[in-house]
Parts: sequence; structure tokens; C-alpha cells
Amino acid sequence: MSPLPPVRIGLLGLGTVGGGTLTVLRRNAALIAARAGRRIEVVCASARDLGKSRALDLTGIELHADPHAVVDDPRIDILVELIGGLEPARELVLRALANGKHVVTANKALIALHGNEIFAAARSRGLMVAFEAAVAGGIPVIKVMREALAGNDIQWLAGIINGTCNFILSAMCDAGRDFSEVLAEAQRLGYAEADPSFDVDGIDAGHKLTILASLAFGIPLQFERVSVEGIRNISAEDVTYAKRLGYRIKHLGIARQQAHGIELRVHPALVPTRAPLANVNGVMNAVMVSGDAAGPVVLFGAGAGALPTASSVVADLVDVTRALTTDSENRVPHLAFQPDTMENLPTLDIGDIETAYYLRLMAADEPGVLADVTRILAALGISIEAIMQLDRAPDTAEVPVVILTQRVREAAMNQAITSLEALPTIRTPLHRIRVETLT
Ligand code: NDP
Ligand code: HSE
Repeated sequence: MSPLPPVRIGLLGLGTVGGGTLTVLRRNAALIAARAGRRIEVVCASARDLGKSRALDLTGIELHADPHAVVDDPRIDILVELIGGLEPARELVLRALANGKHVVTANKALIALHGNEIFAAARSRGLMVAFEAAVAGGIPVIKVMREALAGNDIQWLAGIINGTCNFILSAMCDAGRDFSEVLAEAQRLGYAEADPSFDVDGIDAGHKLTILASLAFGIPLQFERVSVEGIRNISAEDVTYAKRLGYRIKHLGIARQQAHGIELRVHPALVPTRAPLANVNGVMNAVMVSGDAAGPVVLFGAGAGALPTASSVVADLVDVTRALTTDSENRVPHLAFQPDTMENLPTLDIGDIETAYYLRLMAADEPGVLADVTRILAALGISIEAIMQLDRAPDTAEVPVVILTQRVREAAMNQAITSLEALPTIRTPLHRIRVETLT
């Protein structure tokens, strides 16, 4: 073993991921030291409530209620930020960098919204900021995109990148369980964000897609350009009808190079049952990246939870430890591209994307209604792939009608929906879900 002294860590946060990180560092200490070339020791840590009972071995760790005491501790080499949220995380990370500390974080919101500022501060001081755990929990997707696929022109990527959404949709699809009951279970298991609306409204996946798109295309982090939709409007009926048509509903993040700009979107989608992403269930995540040389590459693993996320945090700690003695100019760039080559390429408005659609409408059970619907679609050049009229619900005069369309520009589909909703025979709102074949 190298005679180098241990690398000293200051840890902010002793919750799901902070606790998991301590557990992995203690459990695998010898293996980790053998790989890093030095021991990695947590010397101090902070949490809001020091009186909280925690099933953690905190022996030898100085505990503080004030996170600044950790950030300002002159002994530490690396600050690990596992608090979450924007403030005080941003202020603490910038202060750690100002103090000359390297940073490891799992905080995707922080990186997506303030990463440009944080990386600039780190670069100006020759420091590392590592964030593998910020996207897809235990899957080493950042490392693969930044290093293993460095030779590729990446054409597109698509992923299931929120464990909580996938856990909920899988339980709705496979066990017919209720949305809020499954969300409560995801919270109990430590998968959900402190504010779970970040998960179910697609914001967390939007943060992760922002990071993946920068790594893939060399664009700055621009969360505000991602079109974000969550899963609140997905009903049990949609899940059932999608299944009958040979699809599963998944919450996807998609980034794709097109002729006139880059698509950046997060939303639920019908995915054909035979597609690999349709079979990623529960808290598992998967990211499919298509490069011109490698072709499609699929990465699969646990997307949230204490130990899988800790696996990524600890991998970053080992990486930073190994690189401590390298010249900062020769390290892997934070966002895969050298900063002076990053380009603010145009991004496409969601109205300009092209995809197929699933439409579910409640139509009056009268002659001529379907003719009106198909006339509106045809007038806008929208071709129908399949149409299914379902049994009338008892005690109503309406029948559910499900339509699958061929690919069309979203702006045309929006126009069609406005016209369909104006028909007196169609109940509003009409339900629309995009269909993605992921090829
Ligand atoms: P938790 O809520 O479980 O833990 C947060 C920890 O930070 C707690 O120890 C809490 O103290 C402490 N804390 C919270 N706010 C403050 C504050 N203002 N000042 C000081 N300490 C504070 O969160 P997670 O561990 O789930 O998440 C941490 C980060 O990891 C987030 O950025 C999250 O997005 C990310 N992440 C989470 C994953 C998961 O599966 N949970 C997966 C991948 C990333 P106390 O314990 O006293 O309340
Ligand atoms: N809340 C996040 C999820 C944690 O459910 O995916 C992992 O980033």
C-alpha cells in the first residue's frame, strides 16, 4: 500500500445517500483503498438534526449541525455534498471550492441549474467537481459518456432517468396499483426527492437530461430549454389501453440532434413492449445512447436508493483521489468537452418535434362522431395507425376511443387537438401521450 496519508472527506448530509455512502466506505474500506491507492476517511459530517437516530456507524467522525463547519474544516481534501436542493448547497459548494477543496455531489438540480458557475469556479482553481450519482443513481452513465464514448458523434440518447416515476408506472401497469399509494412507498424507500413533485412532474428527469445533453453534444447546461412533462395525467385506463395495443407507458428523457437544432424533452411515452426500455421496471433506470461509431449502447441499473447511489458517490471519490496528483489541465473535463469548445447550439421548440401519438377521447355514442374525428386528423395530414373503440361504460352515453397516429409535427397535433376538443360530441380534455419507438 502507498505511504500516502489518507484522503480526508467532509460529508454534508447523513440521509439516504449520505448514510449509504458512509456504509459503503466502511464496508469496502480495504478494497476502496487498494483501488484508490490511499485510504479514504470521513473526518467530519453535518446533518440538520444531530439528535435524529440513524442506523449508521459514526465512530471517529466529528459531527456538526452547521454545514459551514465542515466546509471550512482545514483538514478536508474533498467535500461531499449530499444535502440536495439549490440553497444552501450552492453556497456551500462554492465556498468549498474557494477553500481549495474538490467536490463530489449527487445533486442534479444544483448541477443542472448552477453547474456552469460551479465548473467555472472549480476550473479557475484547478479543482475537480464530480457528479456521477446525479444521473441514474448507480449506473455509471456519466463516466461512459464522458470517457468511454469520447470517440463518437452522439446522435441521440433516451432514458428512463427517474426511479420514482418508473416505480409508480410499473406498479400501475403490473399490479394495477394506485398512484398515490405507490408514491408513498417510493418515499418510504428513499427514492423520491425531498419534494416528490420534482419526480412526478418530470423536473428531476429534466435536470438529469440537461446534464446528459451537455455531455453528449457539448452544449452548456440549459435546463430552461428542456420541455418537461410529468406523469400526473397518466391514468389506469391509459396504462390498460396501451398494454392492449402492445405498448408500456414509460417516463422518458430524450435528447436528439436534428437538422435545425437539438430536441430536449422529458415526458411519458408509449414504448413498444419489445423495446429494451419497455422492460425496465420498478426503480431500475436505463439509458440508451446512440453514437455514430459504437451504435446503440444501453446502460441499465438501479436508478435510486441508498447503496446504488453510494456506489456512484464512492466511485467519484476514488476517481478524484486517483487524480489528486495529476496536472489539472490534463484531467477529464467536467462536461466531457474542453470548455472553450462548448457551443450554444440551437434547441428545438417542442412544437417542432416529430413523433407518433396515442389519443384517448370520450366520444358521444352517436353516428358520425368518428367520421368527424378522422376528418379533422386528415385535414392536418395526420395518418391513423390504429383505432380502437372500447366498450361503453355503464350508465354513460359515451364510449372511449383510442387512436394511434403516425409521426407528425407536434404543432399539427396541437392544432388537431384544439379542433377535436371543439366538437360538441367529444368530452374535454382529450388525453394525448407521445409514442416513441426509440430507434
Ligand atoms: P435526504 O433527505 O435523505 O438527506 C438529506 C440530508 O441532508 C439529511 O441528512 C439532512 O439532515 C441534510 N440536510 C438537509 N437540508 C439541510 C440543510 N439545509 N443544511 C444542512 N443539512 C441539511 O436526501 P437524499 O440522501 O435522498 O438526497 C441527497 C442528494 O442526493 C439530493 O441531491 C438527491 O437529489 C440526490 N440523489 C438522491 C438519490 C436517492 O435515491 N435518494 C439518488 C441520486 C441522487 P437531517 O438528516 O438531519 O434531516
Ligand atoms: N428521486 C430520484 C429518482 C433519485 O427517483 O430517480 C435518483 O436521482
